[in-house]
Amino acid sequence: MREIGVALLGFGNVGQGAWRILTAHAEDIQRRLGVPVRVRHVLVRDASRARAEAGVAGLLTTDVGAVLADPSVHVVVELVGGVEQAASYVSAAIRARKQVVTANKALLSARGEALFAEAAAAGVDLAFEGAVCGGVPVIRTLREALASDRVQAVSGVVNGTTNFILDAMGAGGSSYAEALARAQVLGFAEADPTLDVSGMDAAQKICLLAQLAFGARVDPSRVHVEGITRLEPVDFALGRELGFALKLVATARRVDGALDVRVHPAYVPVSAPLAQVRGGFNAVQVECAALGPLLLSGQGAGGMPTGAAVVSDIMDVSRNLLSHASGRLPALCAPFLQDVPLRPMGAWRGRHCLRFTVQDAPGVLARIAGVLAEKEISIASIVQRPAQGEGPAQIVVLTHDAGDAAVAAAVGWIDQLATTRARIQVIRVEGGTGPV
Ligand SMILES: NC(=O)c1ccc[n+]([C@@H]2O[C@H](COP(=O)([O-])OP(=O)(O)OC[C@H]3O[C@@H](n4cnc5c(N)ncnc54)[C@H](OP(=O)(O)O)[C@@H]3O)[C@@H](O)[C@H]2O)c1
Repeated sequence: MREIGVALLGFGNVGQGAWRILTAHAEDIQRRLGVPVRVRHVLVRDASRARAEAGVAGLLTTDVGAVLADPSVHVVVELVGGVEQAASYVSAAIRARKQVVTANKALLSARGEALFAEAAAAGVDLAFEGAVCGGVPVIRTLREALASDRVQAVSGVVNGTTNFILDAMGAGGSSYAEALARAQVLGFAEADPTLDVSGMDAAQKICLLAQLAFGARVDPSRVHVEGITRLEPVDFALGRELGFALKLVATARRVDGALDVRVHPAYVPVSAPLAQVRGGFNAVQVECAALGPLLLSGQGAGGMPTGAAVVSDIMDVSRNLLSHASGRLPALCAPFLQDVPLRPMGAWRGRHCLRFTVQDAPGVLARIAGVLAEKEISIASIVQRPAQGEGPAQIVVLTHDAGDAAVAAAVGWIDQLATTRARIQVIRVEGGTGPV
């Protein structure tokens, strides 16, 4: 084989990023691979629309059948997004015995196991570094660099949109709505931000990472997911007083033969690595039996960072193809993937920060403390914020390690008290015994 022929399906943010890297780094890529990589076709919805990138005009097409029938195409790169159309393109590419690269997390989350099984049966690679954390090479690290080790836990800040919003709320005291609007103006959030702010995007990512790390089937619909929409500026101010930053944390951990997988806002000690992750950046920490802790951090989205991950995948599957070693890594399907029980959220034990908005009256604190004691929740510290004028008071309780189910039950009781004036805010604390 004298060169690797590539078809880009999609020429949006990531497609253009991949194109620019393939063009600008062509010589380096050829030196590293031994043969040049040439883009043969670029599939788009509207081939008549002018594109800014020089040299692409003659490659634009809307005919996927012709692209897949071209024997000079060895690698098909799915960058159209969505699930149905993308799944049909990827399946058709596998049937045509092309190596496939995708950056489509939603696709892998919905159809991954079936597509990986199809690819394994056809003896082709399906690579997906760009699908999780954009340019941060977490997939390759888990699949290859840590193949000899035993991963105990993977956790991180894996959604740049929510991290940007939380930063804005924390630094500027903006409300959630103001911070979201700012993120949308600056291009950090979609017009419909539901997938991000609900925590579901992070859940899809941590489930993919858990599948790789533990060889276990983990479906996002079966894990505990809380988004950021109920956070208020006061939660950031209180966190700072206690020595915490507030982050949307995604976690997957082995516990007693089961997996604890969850996504929710969490207080992390300000000195912890995850507290330092700013704006659209992502960070993933991996705890391994032999290596110990490992931290990967970088730009979690964007055309160029994700494009770089996509091009590295093109090179990887090309290397396998050139050395007749496609299928070198286990596919994310049986027999690599197995069923492992998931621990319910109620079984989690850790510190909780509870913020009660209550009537400013004698005996309220004692009543709250009484309910917590009844549920065997021990208190590490209490902060009281007196009422402003006629308004309610706030009581903030930081617990010692307590079971999540017990805390939920106590909160349910306290919520019914006549002196409770607003929804009780519960924020879990991640990261050991940090500040109190
Ligand atoms: N953007 C990021 O930062 C980022 C990061 C990580 C992963 N990803 C993933 O990468 C993928 C691509 O994202 P993107 O941001 O590049 O998307 P995008 O900017 O919306 O671009 C989509 C491209 O696909 C083409 N397209 C859409 N539907 C098509 C169809 N049915 N047939 C042919 N072409 C079609 C569009 O054609 P036209 O140009 O004619 O409209 C456009 O060129 C998604 O799966 C996304 O989740 C994106």
